[in-house]
Amino acid sequence: MTDHGEAAEPMNELAHLGHGALLTPTLDETLSYFVDLLGMDVVEESGGSYYLRAYGDYERWTVRVTAADRAGAEYVSWRTTSPQALQRRVAWLEEHGYGGRWAGPEHGKGPAYEFEDPDGHTFRIYYETERYVAPEGKRPVIPVNVQAYAGRGANVHHLDHVNLLARDVRACRRFWEEGFGLRTYEIIERPDGDGEVGAWMSSSIQGHELIYTQENTSGSGRMHHFAYVVESREDVLRAAEIMADARIYIEAGPSRHTAIQGFYLYTREPGGNRIEVANGGYLVFAPDPKPYVWTAEEWAEKPGWGARIPPEFHVYGTPVVDREKEMLT
Ligand SMILES: [Fe+2]
Repeated sequence: MTDHGEAAEPMNELAHLGHGALLTPTLDETLSYFVDLLGMDVVEESGGSYYLRAYGDYERWTVRVTAADRAGAEYVSWRTTSPQALQRRVAWLEEHGYGGRWAGPEHGKGPAYEFEDPDGHTFRIYYETERYVAPEGKRPVIPVNVQAYAGRGANVHHLDHVNLLARDVRACRRFWEEGFGLRTYEIIERPDGDGEVGAWMSSSIQGHELIYTQENTSGSGRMHHFAYVVESREDVLRAAEIMADARIYIEAGPSRHTAIQGFYLYTREPGGNRIEVANGGYLVFAPDPKPYVWTAEEWAEKPGWGARIPPEFHVYGTPVVDREKEMLT
């Protein structure tokens, strides 16, 4: 895909978002948030990192949580569609000045190539993975299912998407389109028309797996949010009840987004990372999708229903930077 123009032959090299490695300054409280409130399970602990899964994740784990002096995403990963696709994408990265390094296997996920996007976010791509095999007590009655219904906390089902902040959204969008064949489903133009403030991208028919929105502080390489999906809109409302009673800060929602139209609840886990409980969003079946490009004026009118997002939503990210405080006052 080129710049909203003629589509090149579709490239199918990335299968889906793989996992995220999150950092937290409050490890115990963050783990409690993921386990007790989101309803996820710890499947591995080693070297101070905890590996967690939602009950619908087919891979063994989809988030790694590690103690650090600050919140943020250490890296985000994608699974490629084949070993050959992995090698081809590594070759593309190295040919285009984005060369990185190989990282060894990690608890069921094979060797990964680590690199940075144009804004300095660290990514990994890998192919080999271990499918989760539920132990006694977690085996589903229908064998097609990965794991028995969790039914705990918000009961999140699987990893959905990640939103990163970027100083140059357009550069990041083009990087993923040209290098990896990601599809872009929606774009918001800057008010001056010179660039973009948002881009919603995916490797599949799912409306969004990777989102870039404008970085409005002096920071770089920051995360906006990390999202798990629940099975219904009602489950998003139920998650709000659970989070509120647990005194977890709810920043926005429950409501529905205009872009991609997913139903959302945004919380901050105790370590400060913004975590979304999500449901819905449209699917795109066309093999030759063209992104919908919102002008700034059109976007400002916010057609349809749904609450307006609070100003801090456009500023706060992790790691937190001092400049944020200035911008929020
Ligand atoms: Fe989201």
